[in-house]
Amino acid sequence: MSAPRGQWNSKIGFIMAAAGSAIGLGNIWRFPYVVGENGGGAFVFFYIIFVILIGLPYMFAELSLGRATQKNPVGAINKIRPKSFWRLAGFLGVITGVGILSFYAVIAGWTVAYIYKMFTGNVGDFSAFVADPGGEVFLFVLFVLITTLIVQKGVSEGIEKWSKILMPIFFILLLSLVVYSLTLDGASKGLEFYLKPDFSKITGRTLLAALGQAFFSLSLGMGTMITYGSYLSKNDNLITSSVSVAIFDTLIALFAGLIIFPALFAMGKDPAAGPALVFVILPEMFLEMPGGLIVGSLFFVLLSVAALTSTISLLEVPVSYMIDDHKVDRKKIVWGVAGFTLLLGIPSALSQGANDFFTNFGLIPASYTGPDFLSQMSFLFGDIALAVGAISLSIFVGWVWGVDRASDEIEQGAPFFRKTRWLWSFIIRYVIPVVILLVLLNTVHIF
Ligand code: PFF
Repeated sequence: MSAPRGQWNSKIGFIMAAAGSAIGLGNIWRFPYVVGENGGGAFVFFYIIFVILIGLPYMFAELSLGRATQKNPVGAINKIRPKSFWRLAGFLGVITGVGILSFYAVIAGWTVAYIYKMFTGNVGDFSAFVADPGGEVFLFVLFVLITTLIVQKGVSEGIEKWSKILMPIFFILLLSLVVYSLTLDGASKGLEFYLKPDFSKITGRTLLAALGQAFFSLSLGMGTMITYGSYLSKNDNLITSSVSVAIFDTLIALFAGLIIFPALFAMGKDPAAGPALVFVILPEMFLEMPGGLIVGSLFFVLLSVAALTSTISLLEVPVSYMIDDHKVDRKKIVWGVAGFTLLLGIPSALSQGANDFFTNFGLIPASYTGPDFLSQMSFLFGDIALAVGAISLSIFVGWVWGVDRASDEIEQGAPFFRKTRWLWSFIIRYVIPVVILLVLLNTVHIF
């Protein structure tokens, strides 16, 4: 039996759901630590350039492909070029969804634990917390279960309703924390590190990190926006929706930096602390802040929700593929995909000190990323697979489906696009594939 296809109930519902997918741990947890590892301001500069020049035009491509075909990433490609090898680009997206979800839900589990830790004021030692095997696996399984239950309910019931209420609250809380952090003694040194570019710190690896972060943060490169676009109606405006999503997403990441770096320098800590950064700095800031325990637990509640609206979209991609192309029941297949994610994620959950083998996994050399299984998955799926996916999909849209058909699709609901189609066509056919390819080759030292 084929399940009826979902649709968003309202325009704002789609923007909130797409923003919900985009805004998540990538903004609050990943962005500040990659900024810290990559030397600060110059990284931020390239990140913003990549969002505007590459991420945004690329987002139009994914959304238009999804809306035109009304399908998941594999189905969309198959509809245009039946049974061709291009479907591999869609499969890569489906696999990447599970790959990212498997480590993302581990971090999301930490945020849930920190709600309780902040509430009781008993934060304890971060490295001891993540090295406890039972706790890590429990939190990870819990988070995957919550995600699965929501995805089971479908598009508008499960995903749209919650995003609409909770994302605005999160935005306001973050803004207040920015104001607080900027008033701390020593804040200006943090601001300087964060916002004053030192271009001598830029290397090939930094550029890949900035590009990877732009794609990761906007949920691009694995067909999430193809899937979400497939639930859009023809009179929705793809351009204004994408622009709002990108603005929200970038602002929230920038806010996260404005909270973390002033606080970090005020405490005299090291910005290159890696994935632990947010979980060490923020709780300390909350502990010293008047009313900080309440604010801190509210912060982690909202961060968990932001993570949840992202894990939902990660799971929705493989699930929509199974529903469309294998005609399976949504209620059943979500559990299948979730089960697979659980198996794949356990090594990441155990890789922060709980198990020696996974902690020092080190298959990908240390010049690229940390040796622990979680960092390796994050590099493989969160940077490389998204970049490869984005090259393939932009070539597919630009050259195979064709910029004319794609532009016609975008123009529906956004008539003003007519004047800029030539520019967009040039970006999607040449700029995006070439820039990503150069950055990738550079990273593997071929170029
Ligand atoms: N954009 C999400 C974040 O920044 O937390 C993570 C993510 C979700 C990446 C969905 C990719 C994706 F398809």
